[in-house]
Amino acid sequence: MFSRLRNDFPILDTRVGESSLSYLDSGATSQKPQCVIDTFTEYYSQRNAAVHRGAHSLAVMATDAFEAGREAVADLVGGAPEQVVWTKNATEALNVVALGIDRASHGFGGEAAQRFGLGPADSIVVTEMEHHANLVPWQQLAQSTGAQLRWLPVTDAGELDLSDLESIVDETTKVFAFTHVSNVLGTINPVDTLVTRARQVGALVVLDACQSVPHMPVNFADLDVDFAAFSAHKALGPTGLGTLWGKTDLLNSLPPVLTGGSMITTVTMEDSAFMDAPQRFEAGTQPVAEVAAFTTAVNYLAEVGLEKIFDHERELARVLLDGIAKIPGITVLGAAENRIGTVAFDVDGVHAHDVGQYLDSQGVAVRVGHHCAQPLHRRFGVTATTRASTYLYNNTEDCEQFLAALAEVRPFFGVQ
Ligand SMILES: Cc1ncc(COP(=O)(O)O)c(C=O)c1O
Repeated sequence: MFSRLRNDFPILDTRVGESSLSYLDSGATSQKPQCVIDTFTEYYSQRNAAVHRGAHSLAVMATDAFEAGREAVADLVGGAPEQVVWTKNATEALNVVALGIDRASHGFGGEAAQRFGLGPADSIVVTEMEHHANLVPWQQLAQSTGAQLRWLPVTDAGELDLSDLESIVDETTKVFAFTHVSNVLGTINPVDTLVTRARQVGALVVLDACQSVPHMPVNFADLDVDFAAFSAHKALGPTGLGTLWGKTDLLNSLPPVLTGGSMITTVTMEDSAFMDAPQRFEAGTQPVAEVAAFTTAVNYLAEVGLEKIFDHERELARVLLDGIAKIPGITVLGAAENRIGTVAFDVDGVHAHDVGQYLDSQGVAVRVGHHCAQPLHRRFGVTATTRASTYLYNNTEDCEQFLAALAEVRPFFGVQ
């Protein structure tokens, strides 16, 4: 099945010089199957209109497409369609939560929003392996409210160090925000344990699901998280679209940060009343074509099966890790057993940017740098790494092409 579905992705036929393309950068963004690309053309040629309130047939069709997207996402990650809020990307989704809490802490949102209020006696907890998208907004919130920012450290094995979980997440903790899967280490975090601790102290749980939803079965309702965020573009969908998932009562009491048209019930010259979620967070004209295309992507993923995708990528991760272990001078960051097909490593004596350039010359696309996780890199004593990350369309040949090129990197740069 996996060898066949590769043909659905036209970009994978690209030649890089003399080489075929080995695309191992899906952790940054995924490639798109033809059916997702076709949905754009079909949407703009047959259904394009502004959604909601339209009195004509095209507007009804566009609205149906837009709302069908919520249903597809709710089928994928659990909950009801109205728990699915469209944003620009996961970064915006996480900011909507952090900034909403900030507004609540400064008296906005009335009585319903008081449950979110933070002050100097409170703490926010994150982890040392967060992508900046799930760290910087919480730093900003801490600075704005006087709350203390704390974090769970990371072990040498690239897993969360839970030995002080009970003292780090304590009765002062109002928000516990963590990633489901590290975008650098590939580690899958123990969400159950972390949610259990959050429930003991009454903290809100915010899950960064950017690297889990595309690669494994995930059900936010079963995980019992309060809010979750992910991006369409990492899950075969288009850029420009993210999802904020939340528990209904929380979404309906969180103050919105973007206000304007399409999210209000009544407006006077002095004040306005807001709609319930999801519209409450969807001010202005929405990315309808993107939602339509993402719906096709979600259906494609569901048809292949997330369980199968997970198993396939675990096999590829094994090929990558076993192969890298045979090449001298390469240090992989972390060694978690419970992982996805994302592997970041340091090449002794060669800067990650040079590694990336050499690999590119051999047709291999990887990511280099700090992958928006500077504190995690600092934790491992490096400033930059090279990251190979797989997806459902990769095969062992891609991994072997990568391994053959990687074995040549140090000799090429004359490093013994
Ligand atoms: C774990 C994680 N969180 C958040 C993000 C941010 O996603 P986006 O840039 O699509 O908002 C990424 C993207 O790399 C990520 O890997």
